Amino acid sequence: MTGATDRGPTDRRELWHGRFSGGPSEALQALNDSLSFDRRLYREDIAGSRAHIGMLLEVGLLDEEEHGVVVAALDQVEAEIDDGSIAFAGGDEDIHTLVERRVTEIAGPAGAKLHTGRSRNDQVATDLRLWTKRSLTDVVGHTLGLQATLLAMAERAGDAYLPGYTHLQQAQPVLLAHHLLAHGWALARDVDRLIDARTRVDVSPLGAGALAGSSLPLDPHRSADALGFESVFDNSLDAVSDRDFVAESLFALSLLGVHLSRIGEELILWASSEFGFVTLDDAFSTGSSMMPQKKNPDIAELARGKAGRLIGHLTGFLATLKGLPLAYNKDLQGDKEPLFDAVDTVRLTLLALDGMLSTLSFDHQAMAAGADSPYAAATDLAEWLVERGTPFRDAHAVVGVLVRRSLAGEAPFADLVRSEADLGPDAAALIAPGASVTRRVTHGAGGPDAVGAQIERFRTRMALDQARV
Ligand code: ARG
Repeated sequence: MTGATDRGPTDRRELWHGRFSGGPSEALQALNDSLSFDRRLYREDIAGSRAHIGMLLEVGLLDEEEHGVVVAALDQVEAEIDDGSIAFAGGDEDIHTLVERRVTEIAGPAGAKLHTGRSRNDQVATDLRLWTKRSLTDVVGHTLGLQATLLAMAERAGDAYLPGYTHLQQAQPVLLAHHLLAHGWALARDVDRLIDARTRVDVSPLGAGALAGSSLPLDPHRSADALGFESVFDNSLDAVSDRDFVAESLFALSLLGVHLSRIGEELILWASSEFGFVTLDDAFSTGSSMMPQKKNPDIAELARGKAGRLIGHLTGFLATLKGLPLAYNKDLQGDKEPLFDAVDTVRLTLLALDGMLSTLSFDHQAMAAGADSPYAAATDLAEWLVERGTPFRDAHAVVGVLVRRSLAGEAPFADLVRSEADLGPDAAALIAPGASVTRRVTHGAGGPDAVGAQIERFRTRMALDQARV
């Protein structure tokens, strides 16, 4: 489909040509025309028209013959757009105008009945809802794909462990599987949010007309059923002006983008020489044009950066919506570019991150070395004292003093623990490499048994979500 922009003002014939004596200015056309981006809705637009004329037939506003002629014309237009052979005309300001104009050229007087009882206002809302429903489902599929990758990585990670962080300071050791699944659970909430948003997308506005319904005996339930919508609008003014579903989808996509950004940020840290926890596969990293030694985590950085763009789409569109009076206003045409771009951006980021994660390799030794700092077991030592009757606040202070003395250079931490009256050799054994992580045993904790149970819960949750898609 090419040539949308190379038509002149002279050959234009607007949908409203009867009312106007002069044609539109070039500036108006340039600002007003949306075909360059809304042509992406052509399948939905044609599906909406098929449903609409099916309803017109059933309520007697179209006869069988006319219906057959228009159906054939719609099929032909779809094929012409599919194969790029469609020719653009001057007045094709948007996809709805293009399809109707071409149908009328092919079908003649029967084609001129296509728009009976319909406005582009209910039409565009219908198209965009159909597109959004399909796109959210697609994004859910890719998100589940990334979750499956994280799950497989968690299973492969076995008993590997790394330092867990707070404030980006080493805190307590956790299993690598635990860390990976933390991202997986955030994605599970994204999946839930996207599926939930989809239920509010799944409402047909077709039959609302321009704003007030119709004097003709339309049956919005029939067209809604034909399009597979779950429900039908209740108020025609609301039906044509409601873009909550766009704002909500943009939010769900933005938060998903923020989660992907967080994964990206960790990969960037982990791939640095300072951490050295992961090595990226060549296929998912880039080099430097000047520095031969470099291997850069560009995908992770792009994932981090794209979140800004997604948040921009959300806040920008909310600003567009605020203060619009009922019902349709042309401002609403600005719903499509941010939504299309947000879906494209999230989809691409999910795929690229998935590839990056499934091909990277972990350096389990570097991770363990970070986690085996003696101070990482400080909380375990305090809890060891608690188990033997010391109030936690006192236990915290006892261990804290030893940390301070060790950091001041008095002696290695383990030696101080061994010779401390309340602690001694049994307590010092907790400092041994790999010991601390095994002590995290409670529900949802980062130790081996708890993580084993968590992996099972995650698998179950994924299967449930898979079934909801
Ligand atoms: N291109 C328009 C949009 O995207 C279609 C609806 C136009 N309606 C109108 N009354 N001008 O919103």
